[in-house]
Amino acid sequence: MTRGSSDALHAVDLRVNGVDRTVNVEARRLLVHVLREDLALTGTHVGCDTSQCGACTVDIDGEAVKSCTVLAVMAAGSSVTTIEGISPPKGPLHPLQSAFHEHHALQCGFCTPGMIMSARQLLARKPDASEDEIRHGLSGNICRCTGYHNIVEAIRSLSSGKAVA
Ligand code: FES
Ligand code: FES
Repeated sequence: MTRGSSDALHAVDLRVNGVDRTVNVEARRLLVHVLREDLALTGTHVGCDTSQCGACTVDIDGEAVKSCTVLAVMAAGSSVTTIEGISPPKGPLHPLQSAFHEHHALQCGFCTPGMIMSARQLLARKPDASEDEIRHGLSGNICRCTGYHNIVEAIRSLSSGKAVA
C-alpha cells in the first residue's frame, strides 16, 4: 500500500525475501535503487540505463522482472525475491547457484544474479526446458564474459523435469 505524505515521500509496503518492509520513497524512485540502497540488497545489479542488460532482474509475485523498469511505488503490496532470498544466508546454495559454480558459468559475475533469477523463473515455468528454450528465456540477460555456453549448460543440467524453486 502507498500513503502520500506532505514531503512528497510515499510509504511503500513490500514483502522482500519473506520479510515485510516499509520504505519511504519519492514517486520517481526505481525499485532497483530501493533494493540496493535502502535495503542493502546489493546482489541485484545495475548494468545499463536502457532496460536491456537484465542484471537487475528480481522476482515480483512470481514473475522475473527487470527492477530498473519498475517504480518502487508500482511494486507496493508485492512480494519481491532477490538473489539474496533464493537460499538461506548460510547455505545450502540454491541448485542454480550450485550449477553455475559447477559448470563455470560465470567470470566477472556481474550478470550472474540476473541470470539466475531469470533462469529460476524459466525452470519454474518449464522444468524440462530445452537448450533453445533456455537461450530464448535468457534473451533479456546480457553477459559480456562467458559467451553464454556454460550458463546454458548450467541451467540445462537442471532442466530434467524437476521443479526448481
Ligand atoms: S540495469 Fe536493468 S536492465 Fe540493465
Ligand atoms: S560473467 Fe561477466 S558479465 Fe556475465
